[in-house]
Amino acid sequence: MSSKVSIHTLQEMKERGERISMLTAYDYPSGQLVDASGADVILVGDSLGMVVHGFETTIPVTMDMMVMHCAATRRGVKRALLIGDMPFGSYQTDIATAKRNAARLLQEGGVDAVKLEGGEFMADTVCKIVEMGIAVHGHIGLTPQSVSAFGGFKVQGKTVDVAKQLVKDALAIQDAGAFAIVLEGIPSRLAKLISEKLTIPTIGIGAGAGCDGQVLVFHDLLGLFADFTPKFVKKYAHLRDDIVGALKQYNAEVRAGTFPTAEHEYALSDDVWQQLKDELGT
Ligand code: KIV
Repeated sequence: MSSKVSIHTLQEMKERGERISMLTAYDYPSGQLVDASGADVILVGDSLGMVVHGFETTIPVTMDMMVMHCAATRRGVKRALLIGDMPFGSYQTDIATAKRNAARLLQEGGVDAVKLEGGEFMADTVCKIVEMGIAVHGHIGLTPQSVSAFGGFKVQGKTVDVAKQLVKDALAIQDAGAFAIVLEGIPSRLAKLISEKLTIPTIGIGAGAGCDGQVLVFHDLLGLFADFTPKFVKKYAHLRDDIVGALKQYNAEVRAGTFPTAEHEYALSDDVWQQLKDELGT
């Protein structure tokens, strides 16, 4: 596998017109699996609140949860660029808090870069985190941490005003020093237009094929998450069915006494066995 991916690798890929593949991972095994697949970027997304912890939104995710998941994923990732999501409330209140929490994700979580949600209004925060030497990935459009203000998970940018604001948001985040930006849940024409206007890579999710790269959630594309499936998800496997099938077979074999068999047992020598029986008088 080629050498470690950096933010410069991604910039060069955009310039050469090569698409960037990004996936989420949340722990040591998923980090190892995604890294082994050759994905360019691994995101420890706050989507873990929903697909790993079973919350209805990403809002309950805390810094402590993110630090623990980032550190576990770090141990499994050697090649891909590893990004950690800044969770809700960890960067919106004031810039000093944002800087302290971004530093925690690098220092304790071991990530290479952080991602945070928001457009023009978040540009100053992005700028200040970048100034302290931390690479920042932006995220605009259907930003899940704003689900309360959006009134649900709703596609953004369908009116001229909102679409114009999203273009301004993307440019502001680029100008603030972000090295890439996620475009989530926006019409594909708009995402293509933004991708053409920006010099930094755009990574789409529910934003069509005109972006410089794509990201999907690990549990969605592997068919591990059954609660709901957004329109933009393609399931490349149906592992939930495979796993439940395997677990059912285990349950059945335990109940029938057909597991374990000799090949899964440890032997005790005849000498030791005889001596044990003699000493126990059985
Ligand atoms: O939390 C997440 O997984 C994300 C991606 C889906 C972009 O932010």
